[in-house]
Amino acid sequence: MPNHADIFNKSFQRLLGRDISISKEDSYLFHRFYENFIAVSPEARQKFTDTDFSEQVKMLERSMFHMIKFYETGVESSSLFEIAASHSEQKHNIEPALYDVWLEALIKTIEELDPEYDDDVELAWRLVLTPGITLMKHYHKHSIR
Ligand code: HEM
Repeated sequence: MPNHADIFNKSFQRLLGRDISISKEDSYLFHRFYENFIAVSPEARQKFTDTDFSEQVKMLERSMFHMIKFYETGVESSSLFEIAASHSEQKHNIEPALYDVWLEALIKTIEELDPEYDDDVELAWRLVLTPGITLMKHYHKHSIR
């Protein structure tokens, strides 16, 4: 049986390793992700009108480690909680449906950039990110503690 966590880690390492050869400063993976995301979603494009993408890419890369930790432990870090809070109705106001578009854009990006991409890699990424996405969708409407 496939070990999904292991398949995810290897894919992520391949992608980050590839980043290093492109630029030490910026993550090509997440840079390309935002291009794909705003290309498919006019709503996302509109939300990011005033965004500094160089900063945004770095913040998303860091937040991935909180998403992974949440998948592994089931306990949200205060950082992940703050990210969820900032995306709730009161602040960025990200509708839950947009997270599905976000995930599809990320999967498309993994497919583009991971030379070993296959069905198992796709499933592993979906499994790792789903708990964090569920949390963020939940906090869109439910009151923040
Ligand atoms: C699980 C998925 C997501 C993660 C991990 C994530 C992560 C982050 C992080 C770390 C930041 C910067 C800190 C902050 O403002 O909280 C941020 C900002 C932001 N995110 Fe997300 N995000 C996600 C999904 C989305 C989606 C679906 C949208 C929809 C368009 C979105 C829109 C924004 C906006 C508008 C900002 C502020 C940008 C700015 O400062 O100009 N995010 N996100």
